[in-house]
Amino acid sequence: MPPVPSAWADRWLAWRNRLVASPRFQRWAAGFPLTRGIARRNTRALFDLCAGFVYAQVLAACIRLDLFAILAEGPATVAALARRLELPPENARRLLRAAESLGLLRGLSGDRFGLADLGAALVGNPGIAAMVEHHALLYADLADPVSLLRGNVQPTRLSTYWPYAAGQTGDAQSVAPYGGLMGASQALIAEDVLDVCDLARVRHLMDVGGGEGAFLEAVARRHAGPRLTLFDLPPVAERAADRLARVGLEGRISCRGGDFHNGLPTGADAISLVRIVHDHDDGPALAMLKAAHAALPPGGLLLLAEPMAGTPGAAPVGDAYFGFYLLAMGSGRPRRAEELHAMLRAAGFASSRELPTRRPLLTRVIRAKKQAP
Ligand SMILES: C[S@@+](CC[C@H](N)C(=O)[O-])C[C@H]1O[C@@H](n2cnc3c(N)ncnc32)[C@H](O)[C@@H]1O
Repeated sequence: MPPVPSAWADRWLAWRNRLVASPRFQRWAAGFPLTRGIARRNTRALFDLCAGFVYAQVLAACIRLDLFAILAEGPATVAALARRLELPPENARRLLRAAESLGLLRGLSGDRFGLADLGAALVGNPGIAAMVEHHALLYADLADPVSLLRGNVQPTRLSTYWPYAAGQTGDAQSVAPYGGLMGASQALIAEDVLDVCDLARVRHLMDVGGGEGAFLEAVARRHAGPRLTLFDLPPVAERAADRLARVGLEGRISCRGGDFHNGLPTGADAISLVRIVHDHDDGPALAMLKAAHAALPPGGLLLLAEPMAGTPGAAPVGDAYFGFYLLAMGSGRPRRAEELHAMLRAAGFASSRELPTRRPLLTRVIRAKKQAP
């Protein structure tokens, strides 16, 4: 039951907000020893909110210039980096210092720079670079966020990047960019998902909306047992089959083209939906869960993995980032775990529970079961 609004609580909040809004109070709080720490943290948090786009573009510049790969070879002087990046030395230094301030690089003796923790982490995750590159489309759609919220940005750039969001199947050419992006970023999450999913008793797993097969490839490398089927839109399933053949898995994973809005093939005793449900509005998402329920045998298993709204410690990832990303894409919304449990029950699943993952910010996992016979 939602909490009952209390007049006292509302009045207290209004008083507190008037106080915090007052420039005199802000000045006092920034100097008073007991409130100084809080005031500085809030000032910084507010500044970070204002400056987020600039920070993101510093990162984009580093990625476009291949700076992290260059420094993965070892630290380099500002002069050498300026030559290699083809930047005027003063601007190379400006970029390097900006990246240092953001925890990406580390300034070293002898006017050199090397990787700091965040820069080093980026070298091992090419998916992040791909994500940052395609953000140019998202930022163009967000240039006037109020127009976007009012539905006046049509068509959005992201809706052409993700043709299925506008109900289109796409062709080999139009699905290639998102297929590549999903494949590159899947490495970040497949292992976290598989760490918590017990597939020991699964005979046949079908990954619905499986993209170019990166998730099933990770399953195949871990589990020799289950038969594996990828289901995605026909042009995506074709690309998946080609890619999986190139990595020697054509005999292990079969690829089926189709549209899950028209139902799902039967035969699998487990279905995975990795980063799928959040892409769809409530009606189609519930229909898809019902289709998964209908396709499973009694006792069958559904694994739903995606970033969720309201994740403790990562609320802006779901509610702000994915909330606005999916708005620009034109379909779907981030959902709270409780909402997904309710949808799974409405789709007919007898039980569902969350399996705690290592990095819930990237993905959380819900395991649901169809009533056993
Ligand atoms: C966000 S991507 C996720 C891909 C993959 N599961 C992953 O996590 O990397 C969504 C996938 O759902 C597929 N898809 C979207 N609509 C579909 C539909 N109606 N039928 C089948 N697949 C669909 C897309 O082609 C895409 O591969």
